[in-house]
Amino acid sequence: MAEIGMFDSGNGGRTTLEAVRRRLPEVEIEYVADLKNCPYGEKSAAELLEITSRVTQGLIARGAKIVVIACNTATTRCIRALREKFPDVVFIGTEPALRLAKRTGAQRIVLLATPSTVASEQVDRLIRQNRLEKQVKLIPCAGLAEAVEAGIEVQRGEARLVRTEKAERCLMKILAKMPEGEREAMEVVVLGCTHYVWIAEQIQKWFPKARMLDGNEGVARRVESVWEKIKNGGKG
Ligand code: DGL
Repeated sequence: MAEIGMFDSGNGGRTTLEAVRRRLPEVEIEYVADLKNCPYGEKSAAELLEITSRVTQGLIARGAKIVVIACNTATTRCIRALREKFPDVVFIGTEPALRLAKRTGAQRIVLLATPSTVASEQVDRLIRQNRLEKQVKLIPCAGLAEAVEAGIEVQRGEARLVRTEKAERCLMKILAKMPEGEREAMEVVVLGCTHYVWIAEQIQKWFPKARMLDGNEGVARRVESVWEKIKNGGKG
């Protein structure tokens, strides 16, 4: 029985899992890599809600009181509906780190995310709330999450990135269209998909002067604080 459950369409979210484990090393966390439904980014909204509801039900049946959606795509598209469907658990989602990007004061920000996340209302809202309309360039990265997934190997619960060729080819297809001068002027890259965190080093080569940001630390902080509240008898 694990009181914290976490899921993603695959092993991308394991970087989130590591960030949470660093804060709560004693707590058992169940991680579901929903590989049979990977990629989430290409499912319809209804289909994705059905899939993520099923995963959530399983986690709850095995004791989860907190469900962490270690996936930007599922968060931006389903978290609201999941909260309504399962009011007794606390959902913590992963959103592209645009708020953090704003705080850096950067004027040139690039957001890399799945086509579905890029097109979501939530990303639009985050951009407007943080007044980043003029600073952010959105790049939908079709196929990149699967290409990263193909290079991850999991043995006894430990994941490692063992191959990056596919992901590098995919990055080339997506980023070679962007003029070199524009890439070099970027100050911040927001890794808006948990899979991309695995290939931050490869992405950095395309944006040599930029700082890479992801939402993992923010999610981990939130999980820790909700966990403390639940442990102290609160609702989270
Ligand atoms: N790791 C997921 C995310 O953060 C990948 C999405 C997918 O499976 O398409 O968006």
